[in-house]
Amino acid sequence: MAPDITAVHTPRLTLRRFTPADLPWIQRLQADPQVMRYVGGVHDAEASEQFLQSRVLDDYTRHPGLGVWATLERSSGALVGMHLLNHMFGESHIQVGYVLAAEFWGRGYASEMCGAVLRYGFATLGLPRIVAITDLGNLGSQRVLLKCGLQRHGERAFAHPKYASGPYAWFHRDADEWLADVHASTSPST
Ligand SMILES: CC(C)(COP(=O)(O)OP(=O)(O)OC[C@H]1O[C@@H](n2cnc3c(N)ncnc32)[C@H](O)[C@@H]1OP(=O)(O)O)[C@@H](O)C(=O)NCCC(=O)NCCS
Repeated sequence: MAPDITAVHTPRLTLRRFTPADLPWIQRLQADPQVMRYVGGVHDAEASEQFLQSRVLDDYTRHPGLGVWATLERSSGALVGMHLLNHMFGESHIQVGYVLAAEFWGRGYASEMCGAVLRYGFATLGLPRIVAITDLGNLGSQRVLLKCGLQRHGERAFAHPKYASGPYAWFHRDADEWLADVHASTSPST
């Protein structure tokens, strides 16, 4: 059975699975050009519906433990965005990612939950490596990845048509290194 994703939380945020009832919210998010600038451009209502079904809901059963999850503010219950840990299209790599509604940018939310998702991936799922790609111009997202302990390894292009606008900034980190870093940064000094 897949681990309970609602157990992945931070001081300010928590995760849950998306449901079909979230479609209007996803359609609004993916219709915002500012949000979608570096993640494939705006989606029309039908494309968002297809995304929710095939990339989100179907994947919960296809790849237990992985997914695209709704990120919620604990204090208000507000849906602030999505965090993900899933297969890159056409690749065996497992990637971390995030997309937040614009009104929630600049509060440290992407980084805060990205760190918790990485811990879940490495420590709970036992993934040996987690990767990430960003548009070369997406400096905010690149900063999030570095703050969360991934490392930049230049640029990479990918064969899958979803990544036709590459090359992308390429990040990854192995479990042993990341877990050692986290342990070192949280160990009490002696
Ligand atoms: C990228 C995104 C997730 C960041 O969310 P966020 O909650 O604002 O991120 P955080 O506050 O955790 O961290 C952002 C960091 O990037 C920095 N940053 C933001 N814009 C930047 C820019 N243009 N250049 C350099 N650094 C930038 C911030 O200062 C912050 O770093 P700091 O904490 O050292 O000051 C959000 O803007 C978003 O959803 N964008 C649209 C979708 C997207 O591009 N997703 C990533 C796909 S790879």
